[in-house]
Amino acid sequence: MKEIGIALLGMGNVGLGTYRILADHARDIERRLGARVRVRHILVREEGRARPEDVPAEIVTRSIDTLLADPEVAVVVEVMGGLSPAREYLERAIASGRHVVTANKALLTAHGEALFSQALARGVDLHFEAAVCGGIPIIRTLREALASDRVSSIHGIVNGTTNFILSAMADEGAAYGDALAQAQKLGFAEADPTLDVSGMDAAQKLCLLASLAFATRVSPQDVHVEGITSLLPVDISLGREAGYVLKLLAIAQRSSEGLDVRVHPAFIPSASPLADVRGAFNAVLLQSAALGASLFSGLGAGSLPTGSAVVADIIDICRNLLAGVSGRLPMLCPPYLQEAPRVPTVQR
Ligand code: HSE
Repeated sequence: MKEIGIALLGMGNVGLGTYRILADHARDIERRLGARVRVRHILVREEGRARPEDVPAEIVTRSIDTLLADPEVAVVVEVMGGLSPAREYLERAIASGRHVVTANKALLTAHGEALFSQALARGVDLHFEAAVCGGIPIIRTLREALASDRVSSIHGIVNGTTNFILSAMADEGAAYGDALAQAQKLGFAEADPTLDVSGMDAAQKLCLLASLAFATRVSPQDVHVEGITSLLPVDISLGREAGYVLKLLAIAQRSSEGLDVRVHPAFIPSASPLADVRGAFNAVLLQSAALGASLFSGLGAGSLPTGSAVVADIIDICRNLLAGVSGRLPMLCPPYLQEAPRVPTVQR
């Protein structure tokens, strides 16, 4: 059976989830592809960090050079997070003709234009489903299924950590700090949880969603951002008495002044489908001209849900490789290419 070699950059929560899904679902993936996906290398940064028992020592490396020198590696998967060295490593992988997958919303938000342009020029794919809403296939939905439609608004709960905290405070009377510590322990929070609670992680995800939904390019400086750090338990209880649930919402909508993009805590009526989204679940409610309202929900953070989105991207690339039609994906992301026209955003 044909084998496709991949390399993982990073062995944190998402890297491990990716590795385990590839291992545990290997037979199903082989049946779907008619080929085997083999993890040939896993790049780790920290020497001496405990290696999970199910990861063989011989595939773990600390050298990006070794990994890129292996001609059997066709796909490089960046699950290390952060801007550097993730950017340099991805650029090297692209330059060497490897198809790439990334789960890194911060990197795409900051350097998506350069990375997509490089991928386009080199004729390689760049997939990023796991960058937004973990296991929910919202990138594919906006890029492909809804490419025919005209989206007028996005209302999303796109950060699992803050939704976990707000749910624990509302449902169990948990203290903010305890709920945050629990979210960190469960592997939902970013390495620096300030990104979660400040609303910045949600803003980065909103940039990606809005760029695809409105065929433009939205940058973090276009987004009005307020996090959850100044909320008090009394805000939650008063809201509840009035029939509202407090959620951190990511919103993008067309207005007469342009595209209005913002992230902030919002009271939403308890009858809204978003009110019932609890814990690390995410949900995205779209309004579009042809489809009307559509709701996408599922686990938005965590090792296996996010790993499943990474593996779906790997499978897509493998399908293209096997069919001899790889290298087309950057063409599907014109909002990320420099020459794409932009829709003006509301300035505050
Ligand atoms: N820290 C992120 C969250 C992880 O809590 O949603 C998934 O992007």
